Amino acid sequence: MKQNIVIGSDHAGFDLKDFFKTYLSNEGFNVNDVGTNSHASCDYPDIADKVAEHIRNNPDDLGILICGTGVGMSMAVNRYPFIRGALLYNIDEAKLARQHNNANVIVFAGRMFENKENLDFLNAFLSAEFSNEERHKQRIKKLSKQLTK
Ligand code: RB5
Repeated sequence: MKQNIVIGSDHAGFDLKDFFKTYLSNEGFNVNDVGTNSHASCDYPDIADKVAEHIRNNPDDLGILICGTGVGMSMAVNRYPFIRGALLYNIDEAKLARQHNNANVIVFAGRMFENKENLDFLNAFLSAEFSNEERHKQRIKKLSKQLTK
């Protein structure tokens, strides 16, 4: 069965979000769009919160977030201890983000790459698998530790 995907962007990622939605739906994924719904300016942390809350309630789903650089969305979504958000900017790095880090949210820079390049990063991630090796599981477990200061 194809994975459920929750996708969100700010205004700077709106066009890539539409492009990804069409592609992923055609590929048979169930895509849940949490906005934004236009090019009107909005605040990326509000969208990152929606995707993070979706993953909190549906931990087997994959999240996609897009802003202009991918930096703001990465900062916002990685505030949550159950999120492993990875900004994808290179094919090898995108594969490793799944094989080693088992990212559950992938982030894209809508204004830094052409849609086709971002699609290549997306497919590199989707076609990879978590290695399931003990050393990577141990490191990932440490990522979810709540910090008090
Ligand atoms: C919006 O102009 C831009 O700042 C935002 O999309 C993102 O790149 C922030 O990190």
